[in-house]
Amino acid sequence: MALKENSKITPVIGLQWGDEGKGKGVARIASSLSKNDLIARFQGGNNAGHTIWHKNKCYVFKLIPSGVFGKAQIHLGAGMVIDPFAFKKETLTISKETPFLKRISVSPHAVLVIPTHLLLDSIGELKKGNNKIGSTGRGIGPAYTDLVGRNALRVGDIFQNDFQKRYKLLTEQHKKILVNIYNYKIDAREFKDKEKNFFLGVKFLKTLLIINSEKIVSETLNRGNKVIAEGAQGTLLDVRFGNYPFVTSSHTIASGVGTGLGVSPVKIGGAIGIFKAYVTKVGEGPFPTELGGEKSAVWCRDKKFVYEKEIFPNPNLNSKDEFEQGIALRKAGNEIGAVTGRLRRTGWLDIPLLNFAIKINNATDLVMTKLDVLDGLKNLKVCTHYIVNSPRQGGVNKKTQEILFDLARAKIKCVYKSFPVWKGKLSDYGKKLPSEALTYIKFLEKTLGAKIIYIGTGPEEHHVVERYW
Ligand code: GDP
Ligand code: IMO
Ligand code: MG
Repeated sequence: MALKENSKITPVIGLQWGDEGKGKGVARIASSLSKNDLIARFQGGNNAGHTIWHKNKCYVFKLIPSGVFGKAQIHLGAGMVIDPFAFKKETLTISKETPFLKRISVSPHAVLVIPTHLLLDSIGELKKGNNKIGSTGRGIGPAYTDLVGRNALRVGDIFQNDFQKRYKLLTEQHKKILVNIYNYKIDAREFKDKEKNFFLGVKFLKTLLIINSEKIVSETLNRGNKVIAEGAQGTLLDVRFGNYPFVTSSHTIASGVGTGLGVSPVKIGGAIGIFKAYVTKVGEGPFPTELGGEKSAVWCRDKKFVYEKEIFPNPNLNSKDEFEQGIALRKAGNEIGAVTGRLRRTGWLDIPLLNFAIKINNATDLVMTKLDVLDGLKNLKVCTHYIVNSPRQGGVNKKTQEILFDLARAKIKCVYKSFPVWKGKLSDYGKKLPSEALTYIKFLEKTLGAKIIYIGTGPEEHHVVERYW
């Protein structure tokens, strides 16, 4: 069949450090798709937490694509790592009310996350001490390590006669690392339970349609139907182009769609790039515009949400103390990790990083979420440039919008531009935006060279203002 040249995949990609609101964005697109269209995840695993509101209920999807409540087919692609038991549990949370299992398929190439991967991840992080990444502990890194080390078990392997044998072999290898290198004592009973669950998950996987990603994607495109590739994590967490080593272990950028779904790059269209009106980050690593800087980073590492609420019951969003302002922003945006419940670090929008993310993903359309969170602020700030002190250039200070190779070690100072914030709440203005918000949006569009197609004004699907400016 001749390829329809115009049919391209639309990647939906996070432009920051994850949690930009991709889930809501995909669910919104999904509501207009037909049963012949396709929504596919192409990387990551249940380190993702994509929140959507459906019929007044809040769901957090980790492995299942966020468009599950629409009509489209859904696919877990070749570039993913799948914890079978976590997947089974997740499907149970929605399958009763939405019989979607007939619409779901999984790639045989996706990597299985096995119980020892979870231990290697969490114990490995503990052993790193101060150098930890702040992983979600879902076994993602070790599972991808096995893939590139050519040891991994993949979904297609579960149908082979030697699956049990290969599982045992890999588990034994991992146990040697845990016991001999990490000095970890495995709780035999606990581990047995985990294995039991793993095999329940495998049994569940066997009941689903297993189909090559490249086949289902190309068939959908060839029919002239739409394919949405739902990104997980965010651009700055990409294993190659993110702030290495404070990254996840997959390719989160739009190019990842190529290897994650087995399609040629020419089949990948312009991306929809999603970003927050400010920035958040969970886990370790550099964050130039973080409110409260290092103090916030340490606080978020150590403090639990409840504890923060006790100490700062009413943080002031307009506080002169940026650390307190960061806490207030976290409270206003409910910035608590959807997967791990950790405090998300908060800061101002960072144009150099956003610019980079837009370019590397070919994000032709942008979505800005959570503008409503800035209600009540007197002035918002945006980092327009960095001042970099470069030892290689004789220690002179240089103003730049360039992305830096090693953000963690670079000596940079952020240059900010301030914007006055609207009076009252965004919701008071209906489907229009106050003039202050429009000034901010137009500044961003001009600076970033891409158009914002809609603005998020609340967590639910209808909480948006479509582009009218
Ligand atoms: P994802 O990982 O990119 O899908 O994002 P998460 O679901 O982890 O985090 C985004 C959070 O913001 C979720 O709690 C959403 O319900 C919420 N959210 C999304 N868009 C908006 C918005 O425009 N305004 C507000 N207030 N909340 C939003
Ligand atoms: P969604 O799809 C935010 C972060 C972790 C950690 C680093 C590595 O909801 O946007 P990993 O478990 O992948 O080895 O952790 O990446 N991280 C995320 N941060 N949103 C996510 O997903 C994330 N997935 C991983 O906090 O810093
Ligand atoms: Mg999330």
